[in-house]
Amino acid sequence: MTSERPILQLGHPTLRQVAQPVKSTADAQVQQLIDDLILTVQAASGVGLAAPQVGQSLQLLVVASRPNPRYPHAPVMEPTALINPRLIAHSEDTVKGWEGCLSIPGIRGLVPRYREVEVEYLDPWGAVQRVIWTDFVARIFQHESDHLAGKVFLDRVESTADLMTEQEYQTRVLAEGSGAGS
Ligand code: NI
Repeated sequence: MTSERPILQLGHPTLRQVAQPVKSTADAQVQQLIDDLILTVQAASGVGLAAPQVGQSLQLLVVASRPNPRYPHAPVMEPTALINPRLIAHSEDTVKGWEGCLSIPGIRGLVPRYREVEVEYLDPWGAVQRVIWTDFVARIFQHESDHLAGKVFLDRVESTADLMTEQEYQTRVLAEGSGAGS
């Protein structure tokens, strides 16, 4: 049965580990984990979630963009589970945009990311898939992919001056309607 899972918070050592490759996509526990990640990210008003964030140190993440109270301008997409994802190619240019993280509540940061990425991964049925994502969805992928390497967005900000509390972000960035491109 699908259930929401508790999300680990910054300071938990699992968030700083390099995740292990998934050995078998057919594993019932892997299928359960995918269902639970999608349910958990939607319940928490997130747009992506990586397995290490729920205590499973595996190379598995979901990208599930849709407008919600934390990301009112997010584009709508089908939730997508990526197993053992690999960055195949990326644009030369980067863009800075605001990010948050369900493992780091209360903080937003302006993070530089590649504008476009090409990713290869296994889908939940074990088939190899390739996708090209741009802008906000490319940003989500790069954020979640960092979790598989034991990194968080705080490691990527160029300056601590690019950090804001959630409250200031809601007031200054979202209320101005700019959303800083995200
Ligand atoms: Ni995160």
